[in-house]
Amino acid sequence: MKSYVVFISAVAALGGLLFGFDTAVISGVLNFIQPYFGLSEAGLGWTVSSLLFGCMVGVVVAGKIGDKYGRKKVLMLASLLFFVSALVSAGSIHLVIFVGARVIGGLAVGIASILSPMYIAEIAPAKYRGSLVSLNQLAIVTGILIAFFTNYMLIGTGEDNWRWMLLVMALPAVLLFFSLFFMPESPRWLVAVGNDASAMKVLEKTSVENEADLRLREIKQSLENKEEGSYRDLLKPKTRNILWIGIILSVFQQITGINSIMYYAPKIFAQIGQSSDTALLQTVAIGSINLIFTALAMVFIDRFGRKRVILLGSAGMATMLLGLSLLYKINATSGILVLVFILGYIAFFASSLGPALWVVVSEIFPNNLRSIGMSVALVSLWAACIIVSVAFPIILEVLNGAMTFMIFAIICILCFAYVWKYVPETKGKTLEELEKELIS
Ligand code: BGC
Repeated sequence: MKSYVVFISAVAALGGLLFGFDTAVISGVLNFIQPYFGLSEAGLGWTVSSLLFGCMVGVVVAGKIGDKYGRKKVLMLASLLFFVSALVSAGSIHLVIFVGARVIGGLAVGIASILSPMYIAEIAPAKYRGSLVSLNQLAIVTGILIAFFTNYMLIGTGEDNWRWMLLVMALPAVLLFFSLFFMPESPRWLVAVGNDASAMKVLEKTSVENEADLRLREIKQSLENKEEGSYRDLLKPKTRNILWIGIILSVFQQITGINSIMYYAPKIFAQIGQSSDTALLQTVAIGSINLIFTALAMVFIDRFGRKRVILLGSAGMATMLLGLSLLYKINATSGILVLVFILGYIAFFASSLGPALWVVVSEIFPNNLRSIGMSVALVSLWAACIIVSVAFPIILEVLNGAMTFMIFAIICILCFAYVWKYVPETKGKTLEELEKELIS
């Protein structure tokens, strides 16, 4: 694979790193902002979810403006928003300012969550597209790990510790902004706006086996006689099927419980009788497992295909959750087995649904509808993320651990069945070949 392609994918994936960091950093901050801003439990919940509402708006807006101004410029905008959010949230002395800054961060996360994988899918040669888009997930989990780690390191720095935790994000935001100058525009977008000459230049640098000409012709053909895609086009019978796949898979990625397990892990560990300090260290362990198994997915996703990877992963996640549920049922939650099941579940997610969702969602839509198609799918992802984060603590308290994990396990089994029956295999084909196959 050309190192240039890896380099520009890595630049785009920095958006994923900020996405991971910004969503995870709050887990270390919340214990300190609660007394500082005098928040009730409910108030804390809303303050924490403010970012997620920003994400929903960001993802909708990014699809449209990404089509108008290009993927690169809008990612630049995201890096600026990340920077402002880091500075303002770290410096805020009023709750309203803090929440506002988190919403701005959310806008940036939303933008990055759609444009980073989309950009990578649009520049990647078909043969390596799965691994390259998965680089974005590797960056997300790296961002999470950095947040867990810097939170842990900064915890003893006095009463302003939470401000430092938030400020860390300014650094990767600056890095993203400047690296973007080295990134070319997406060739698919360039053709869509009629700039074939520039598209050709990018294709020459990114295509394998000297196929730049052929790629350009295919892209032009796929966009011929097509207006800029509208929501109405998205709802036409053939594209509607694809849209459903995007939405349902995105929702499954969230309702199978990953964020509950990840962000509530310290609570789960505390509940089983460990000190909160070891809990934070355990969270770092979770981050590392995440990283290792995402890297594993990158090795296999183009070889075995997206579908097999998700099937194996959701079966594994279901098994781990059933184990966890059983432990809660028989009241055996104080031993090492809980840790094994939690880490096992995360390993299965990281090597399957984690990266594969972003890969599939950025591949299934036709060129003229990719932006708005991904917007709709990913808005569903963020909505599902909010619902699960609000509902999980309530369900855990009302129903207990055994039932809660059983519910997640059943959802994993449903995900397995859905993917088995409805999700097409997308490995190895160009986006234009997929377009022909899936909607004509
Ligand atoms: C998911 C996030 C999750 C992250 C880390 C992403 O693919 O969309 O919700 O926090 O992976 O596992």
